Amino acid sequence: MSLTIVVLAAGQGVRMNSDLPKVMHPLAGRPMVRYAVDAARALEPDNLILVVGYRADLVRAAVGDGLAFVTQEEQLGTGHAVQQAEIASGKAGTVLVLYGDTPLIRPETLRQIVEHHEEMGAAATVLTSRPSDPTGYGRIVRHPGTTEVLAIVEERDATPEQKAIDEVSSGIFCFRGDWLWPSLAEVPKSPGGEYYLTSLVSIARAQGELVTAWTVPDPMEVIGLDHRVKLAQGEAEMRRRINTGWMEAGVTLVNPETTYIDAGVEIGSDTTIWPNTYLQGKTRIGQECTVGPGSVIRDSSIGDRCRVELSVVEQAVMEEDSDIGPFGHLRKGAHLGKGAHMGNFGEVKNSYLGPGAKMGHFSYLGDARVEAGANIGAGTITCNYDGKDKHPTVVGKQAFIGSGTMLVAPVEIGDGATTGAGSVVTRDVPEGSVAYGVPARVRPAADEDDREVEDRDHG
Ligand code: UD1
Ligand code: MG
Repeated sequence: MSLTIVVLAAGQGVRMNSDLPKVMHPLAGRPMVRYAVDAARALEPDNLILVVGYRADLVRAAVGDGLAFVTQEEQLGTGHAVQQAEIASGKAGTVLVLYGDTPLIRPETLRQIVEHHEEMGAAATVLTSRPSDPTGYGRIVRHPGTTEVLAIVEERDATPEQKAIDEVSSGIFCFRGDWLWPSLAEVPKSPGGEYYLTSLVSIARAQGELVTAWTVPDPMEVIGLDHRVKLAQGEAEMRRRINTGWMEAGVTLVNPETTYIDAGVEIGSDTTIWPNTYLQGKTRIGQECTVGPGSVIRDSSIGDRCRVELSVVEQAVMEEDSDIGPFGHLRKGAHLGKGAHMGNFGEVKNSYLGPGAKMGHFSYLGDARVEAGANIGAGTITCNYDGKDKHPTVVGKQAFIGSGTMLVAPVEIGDGATTGAGSVVTRDVPEGSVAYGVPARVRPAADEDDREVEDRDHG
């Protein structure tokens, strides 16, 4: 049977108190609508339709290609939203409706409800759950003693007895297409001016059609993230799933509760992640690495056997066997070659540190190229910015940069060259030579009276 999936994502989501559409709020670094759409994609439907409305361009851009978009100009309710998809859908077959604010739904569950629905030949099948707190959801009114559903009552319309029902609607439905499209026209306007998709249940019953339910055992799978408290619960659940997946794949998370791994990050086996670590965006980590504690790696690529401790790595590359930290910062365009070492309190931006190069203590490299085996002494600074423009620095192979050297760019230090401690290098230093200067002079000790005069003069 042909399958059409309609994902609803047109609402603003007023309970978020946000300018951002509700479905664009991220879970584990990804807009929540992406998860609903990806779950739909996994079923390989014949038609996949996203209903957009509030800030439609933003939502469309977040979900990628290979689906149809229809616009719901005015958000008049979930029933009205599904109606917009009629033209883009096949008339017959099965229609599965998902909500963009229900991102934890699993493809297996969707397959089960579709199968159950088609087996039963029902007009409609609703996916239900029994959460510990049903507040806010539509309640499922069942025909006593049967699996048939009589009605779904929205919270705002429910009597106290109905509010006590613990089975709720996830909002996810399967419909028989040939029944759905004509019946949507019969959905009445609610007192609040909305067309509820849930009204279809009583409409089907009035026509003598069968409405069934499929209950998902884990209520978290169908949690609707309508406000930020729910959003935080959804976030925690998504992270738990991601972390469990990585542990199963052979990654050690010393404390999964405080390890924050975005969806889409890749990690090699036998890597250990210490607590309070954040792996974000498009990040790839190799095998047998040690990451953390207390580190942030964002949009970066880390090779095998690297170590990152108490450091921040952004839009950077670390090749195999390189290491950073504690307290290092790799910024955009930083690249540590194989086995490069970057120790305490260093910052590297748009620079390459070649294989085996060392930068142990308190240094800044900006717009620099440091060749293999060079040593950057403690406190070395590339003075790359003259207040207007940035300039490059090159440090040759096996060069030795003495502690506290100021490399005033543009400047080039030749292979095997040396700079003395504290030197301010304003001109190129040829291969193998030594640049030195600014030695401190020593003044002989003065007697007490002279020293008092000095203090006053300088105070
Ligand atoms: C809805 C259901 C409720 C169910 C709950 C599950 C209705 C009337 N109520 O309530 O029974 O228990 O979901 O989470 O269906 N949307 C549109 N256009 C609109 C309105 C909404 O596209 O005009 C989209 C929203 O962007 C959202 C989804 O539909 O992704 C659900 O809307 P929402 O307002 O969150 O409905 P709930 O109040 O949660
Ligand atoms: Mg909702």
